[in-house]
Amino acid sequence: MKRLRVALLVVSDRASQGERADKCEPAIRGFLEKRGQKLEDVTIVPDETGPIQKQLAEWTARQGYDLVLTAGGTGVSPRDITPEATRPLLERQIPGIPEAMRSASMKITPYAALSRGLAGFRGRSMIINLPGSPKAAVENLATIFDTLVHAIEKAQGDKSDCAPLPAGQE
Ligand code: MTE
Repeated sequence: MKRLRVALLVVSDRASQGERADKCEPAIRGFLEKRGQKLEDVTIVPDETGPIQKQLAEWTARQGYDLVLTAGGTGVSPRDITPEATRPLLERQIPGIPEAMRSASMKITPYAALSRGLAGFRGRSMIINLPGSPKAAVENLATIFDTLVHAIEKAQGDKSDCAPLPAGQE
């Protein structure tokens, strides 16, 4: 499997002000390590459009991460604006990724319907909005992880067949 360059943006007023320890980073780091991947960079920002967009733009342009995850701010509280902040940065949305995350998550909790996260590409970088609890973030990431690796490989020019048949059955 391709070794991905991965960054995580934790979007949380309380964690950014040090009022609450961020538990998403260790949870996502642990998940990635089990899949042979490494989290290279983590930043915590408040639920504010400017800081979210600034960091996403930097990671997807100059720093060229393959995968930029956000965690938090996807719900319906008054301060939840991560999808709105992310949308203008997405050049190509992939609706099937959040659809798959919500569909799988509905089997765990009906509140999964409240996560409004988006996914898509900005240049060669995939951005994915995850919900903010460590449990929810990892459950959602686990659902689509193999698919997003395939998507990144394809978006970056892999021309091999998507589902090659076993030898002799081509
Ligand atoms: N998805 C999964 N798999 N597991 C969960 O526990 N929590 C839900 C939802 N998605 C949850 C989940 C809840 S309670 C909310 S409010 C929304 O994600 C939005 O979370 P956020 O505002 O922290 O982004």
